[in-house]
Amino acid sequence: MERPYTLPRIASLDKPLRLAVLISGGGSGLEALLNHQEIPRLHATKLIISDNSNAKGLDYGVKKNINTKAIPLPEIPDKIEQRILHESLVHAELIKSEIELIVLSGYMRILTHSFVTKWKGRIINIHPSLLPNFPGANAHRDAINAGVKLSGCTVHLVDSGVDTGRILEQIEVEVSPGETIQTLQNKIKKIEHKLYPRVIDSLSEGLYHSKS
Ligand code: GRF
Repeated sequence: MERPYTLPRIASLDKPLRLAVLISGGGSGLEALLNHQEIPRLHATKLIISDNSNAKGLDYGVKKNINTKAIPLPEIPDKIEQRILHESLVHAELIKSEIELIVLSGYMRILTHSFVTKWKGRIINIHPSLLPNFPGANAHRDAINAGVKLSGCTVHLVDSGVDTGRILEQIEVEVSPGETIQTLQNKIKKIEHKLYPRVIDSLSEGLYHSKS
């Protein structure tokens, strides 16, 4: 049976929620969140982790003097062991930094049931489609191929499925005639950069508690 979501505590300006942001690539979403946190908020990014040592996004953390770590997959042949060991390294860093909310921001790994269970309600993800439509790694391509007139982005709590957890917020955008994967991605990223910080504000205020 799936464990219920346990949301993070309601934060205060004196004691902001301690966030870890997990990335794999460019980190434009991370950059937007760090800019949002330039003024005192109910949340603060205390740790940035990437599974990709070359992720450009790591630079944003370094520039802001945030604890920033590349944790690549360990080099062991057994894929299952490799995944479990990798997550245990990530988990250890999260505990060491007393993290209260994990923000997946372009993190390209699927988390195991065991990891999700430990953090359930305290992991959120942003996905570039109107879930439950077009989950997975090719959301823009799939939306364009399906010929939809509307796409958008979704912030959701993470469960053991792929992009299946409880939806917190969504924003729609129009898919214009002649839209390409690249133009749709650019358009959706712009709204993601507004939506994700806003949802993290609301989560820190306890706005979703009454709805659980
Ligand atoms: C975003 O579009 C997000 O929805 C998806 O991955 C992309 C990350 O982009 N999960 P960036 O690395 O933040 O630029």
